[in-house]
Amino acid sequence: MIQTTSGLRGLFQSLRPAASLSSKDLQISMYRWYTSPAESSLQELSKPCVSEEDKYADVDWDNLGFGLTPADYMFVMKCSKDENFRTGQISPFGNIELSPSAGVLNYGQGLYEGTKANRTDDGRILLFRPEQNAMRMKRGAERLCMPSPSIDQFVDAVKEITLANKHWVPPPGKGSLYIRPLLIGSGPILGLGPAPECTFLIYASPVRNYFKEGTAPLNLYIEEEFVRASPGGAGGVKSITNYAPVLKAITKAKGRGFSDVLYLDAVNKKYIEEVSSCNIFVLKGNLISTPATIGTILEGVTRKSVMEIAKDLGYQVEERQILVDELVDADEVFCTGTAVGVAPVGSITHQNKRIEFKMEGQLVCQKLYSTLVGIQTGVIEDKKGWTIEIH
Ligand code: COI
Repeated sequence: MIQTTSGLRGLFQSLRPAASLSSKDLQISMYRWYTSPAESSLQELSKPCVSEEDKYADVDWDNLGFGLTPADYMFVMKCSKDENFRTGQISPFGNIELSPSAGVLNYGQGLYEGTKANRTDDGRILLFRPEQNAMRMKRGAERLCMPSPSIDQFVDAVKEITLANKHWVPPPGKGSLYIRPLLIGSGPILGLGPAPECTFLIYASPVRNYFKEGTAPLNLYIEEEFVRASPGGAGGVKSITNYAPVLKAITKAKGRGFSDVLYLDAVNKKYIEEVSSCNIFVLKGNLISTPATIGTILEGVTRKSVMEIAKDLGYQVEERQILVDELVDADEVFCTGTAVGVAPVGSITHQNKRIEFKMEGQLVCQKLYSTLVGIQTGVIEDKKGWTIEIH
């Protein structure tokens, strides 16, 4: 549920620097406050009137990377650990206040998600399978002992925050609005246990290519010392604790000129698992294989979508354990992720041996990528009900 507030104009004026608060902002703000889910998406308090020249935020769209360019508004909803989320609010993007003893700061009780909004050639805005992110957050919340927003609350909040920030959705072909939902143990706690209060928050930023390579093939490095996830751990959910521990390996690999790190399974160190920021696929002939989600692999929304697209295109798709030794025989290797999209891998270095993959001709991963992006941007008819147009 998203709350209506009175004195909205005053509230926003007190929260935003006066100089950056235009009447257009206020009109959009007023538009996005509600009394209930039923009324929420529906009740227009005042229609935004954005003229054509104001259609886009003031961003250098041709030079977007994957840096943070915060969009105007964020969504915040809190609840105590034994209750359900009820009421959320849209407010200007800004710092949040946390106790130094917040569960997330002390014990890493936190999850994040990533989803994107894209603009179609005719200016409409499409979300891509946000309910999948909602379900994944639910699974993660269960694992980390937090209450989670319902699927509808999550999806409604993603819709509302996208609409509030609609002029931050890049023009067609210039990138996407990356939407970052968080669920954190925000309440204070000293002894180890679930935080007494949790906060669900969404902020957004326009982005383009994740890797500095752009769409050029990635050069991956297989890490042998550090692992990303271990059986029984939290590698299968989007826990924030899966990310800081890989920074050392990434930093080392990037320092040696690699794009990212591919991790091996923690037990045998002989099966490939995942890249720091994305899932991995291997193609051999007509067979596309990806590591099975056995608790240590993140169930990527792009991973799942690409598997379905590949089957539709006539490929055989298998989720299984993949030996690192199989890489030498692969026809293609590629990565998938919300941020990454579908990225070809040009080489993988393992124990100082560099395995190179073919890059000439029409790559299968390019076919998969163009189909995926075609659906996401409305160029290809969405026969699967994956996209949600927001108004
Ligand atoms: C995403 O693809 O959305 C991720 O969460 C990866 C992150 C490292 C940017």
